[in-house]
Amino acid sequence: MRKPVIAGNWKMYKTLAETASFIEKIKPAAEKADHCEVVVAPPFTALAAAAQAARGSKVKVAAQDVHWDKEGAHTGDIAPGMLLDAGCTHVIIGHSERRQDHGETDENVNRKVKAALKAGLIPIVCVGETLAEREGGRTQEVLACQFQGGLAGLTPSEFSRIMMAYEPVWAIGTGRTATPEMAAESHRFLREQARKAFGASEAEALRILYGGSVKPENVAALMAQGEIDGALVGGASLKAESFSAIVNYPRD
Ligand code: PGA
Repeated sequence: MRKPVIAGNWKMYKTLAETASFIEKIKPAAEKADHCEVVVAPPFTALAAAAQAARGSKVKVAAQDVHWDKEGAHTGDIAPGMLLDAGCTHVIIGHSERRQDHGETDENVNRKVKAALKAGLIPIVCVGETLAEREGGRTQEVLACQFQGGLAGLTPSEFSRIMMAYEPVWAIGTGRTATPEMAAESHRFLREQARKAFGASEAEALRILYGGSVKPENVAALMAQGEIDGALVGGASLKAESFSAIVNYPRD
């Protein structure tokens, strides 16, 4: 059984004070949620404050990016060890906004995943096609390319320590969610990639989160798909009420 993960990607939102108050507000919902793991990904400036506020609770803290070097002359970048130092357990890698805004390639993603694993962080590796790629019938080709490039050279045991997020770019921040069936189809495809590259038991255990306009109103239908093992939530993770509702989505 794969334990679901509900993760909030705050992107470039929230000050230190907002972070501390948000974590306090979601603690009760997180404590109630035995069915899932709860992760929040604040901006770099608020990571330590989030980890401090979350101490002793089941809320885990993720960064939104990481550099692959241990340290060095990389202005504006943050090393894996610094994330650990700030209290992070997870790190999002290869989000489509990093790919778009910062020219992040699958090769960069690969180096970051390896560095994060080496440091003991859990990578949440994002993949997903653009609208043009979907409409051009290239979804699976793109996913295969991102999977193979981003995860090249990992051992099965390293692979078993990552999670993935399928985030169709056309569904991010647009209010346009993939249907549960559409998402499940891509998740199945990614799991098949995992089976071929790393083995059947590793593929079976891989948690694949769906991301792209997840809200309290659609999370239950998405989570009802056996292939969907959680959600990576942007916009709707910024308010404690809606994030709490997503964490405790209706289950039967
Ligand atoms: P969204 O963002 O929920 O606002 O669509 C998801 C993401 O980018 O991770």
